Amino acid sequence: MTKIEKIVLSYSGGLDTSIILKWLQEVYGCEVVTFTADLGQGEELEPARAKAEMSGVKDIRIVDLREEFVSDFVFPMLRANALYEGQYLLGSSIARPLIAKRLVGIAREVGADAIAHGATGKGNDQIRFELAINALDPSLKVIAPWRQWNIRSRRQLLEYAEKHHIPVPSDKRGEAPFSIDANLLHTSTEGKILENPAEVAPDNVYQRTVDPLDAPDAPEIITIGFEAGDPVSVNGKSMTPAALLSELNGLGGRHGVGRLDLVENRFIGMKSRGIYETPGGTILLAAHRGIESITLDRAAAHLKDEIMPRYAELIYNGFWFAPEREMLQALIDHSQAFVSGEVTLRLYKGSASVISRTSPWSLYSADLVTFEESAVAYDHRDAEGFIRLNGLRLKSWAARNGR
Ligand code: ARG
Repeated sequence: MTKIEKIVLSYSGGLDTSIILKWLQEVYGCEVVTFTADLGQGEELEPARAKAEMSGVKDIRIVDLREEFVSDFVFPMLRANALYEGQYLLGSSIARPLIAKRLVGIAREVGADAIAHGATGKGNDQIRFELAINALDPSLKVIAPWRQWNIRSRRQLLEYAEKHHIPVPSDKRGEAPFSIDANLLHTSTEGKILENPAEVAPDNVYQRTVDPLDAPDAPEIITIGFEAGDPVSVNGKSMTPAALLSELNGLGGRHGVGRLDLVENRFIGMKSRGIYETPGGTILLAAHRGIESITLDRAAAHLKDEIMPRYAELIYNGFWFAPEREMLQALIDHSQAFVSGEVTLRLYKGSASVISRTSPWSLYSADLVTFEESAVAYDHRDAEGFIRLNGLRLKSWAARNGR
């Protein structure tokens, strides 16, 4: 085994990473620095400090990354209207590059030569962490205990904890819990009963949205302001990116907006079934498409839609810090200069529908499109030639086929 001098561990304070911390200290016999990120997962982070202290960690980093997460990762992704496999808003995928970036920053600051993470050997997250680390600092080694140690089951994990006097909370003693990943953009739940895609997800997997059936009978009307492609206000009130997203999470959650029950294709090769709740993100996607609908030129909008699946796949597969993602981002960002204005939506029993939009930069021309008499220079006879030329090849084709 290669000698490691100092390790930075991505540490949540939960049972798994507490065990990983102990294992690293034992196996590598070196200093471990812990890093815990606040991404708006809605969990107290001070207990993580206490636990790390108890394990003898001297350098404990707990950092609030909420604003950076939303402004530098979620919003750029939203400009693309990114959806993986047509439906997934990439809530876990987009958080990993930011965590990796901070891990690398801390590793350099403290002179560590390795980064450790608690992602398992079957998931996408290990790929996302490690590709980001590779791209940001190729000299850093990566330690992935779940791929290295002999612990292969939940039972062995609990035995290890017991043997090393790591406290196991009573709710963690029984069978494995759901695998949950939460941040300001979403909550993702996988595992247990959800592993059978034929089983309907039980009500208790949902954490931040009400069942649309139980949502209020009265709709709620909200207005979102956009500036150059990014949301900046809700109901006329300017907000920071993180505050805005959490405001929309509250509004959407109350109306049952943003639930998704999905079977997706993991990069590593298997299909997996998960439950996602993305209330604010779902509202923002609809709103962003709403403001783009009046401010983007047709060809510009269609080009964006063509590259979107590719861009989303890059994020899903862990290539945020890759040249091709940055190239696509430059294209997307360039398209957003005039994507400013206001969009009004109705939230009602699970849906977020755009009901009106306005922009000082609107390309929409009522004069041009109207069924009524209009002064705009548009010669109806031009349409005849336009159709005749477009129909030319169809006529040749149909004539040949009928021969
Ligand atoms: N399947 C989703 C993704 O790959 C969610 C992963 C959630 N991570 C977790 N540790 N539960 O983006």
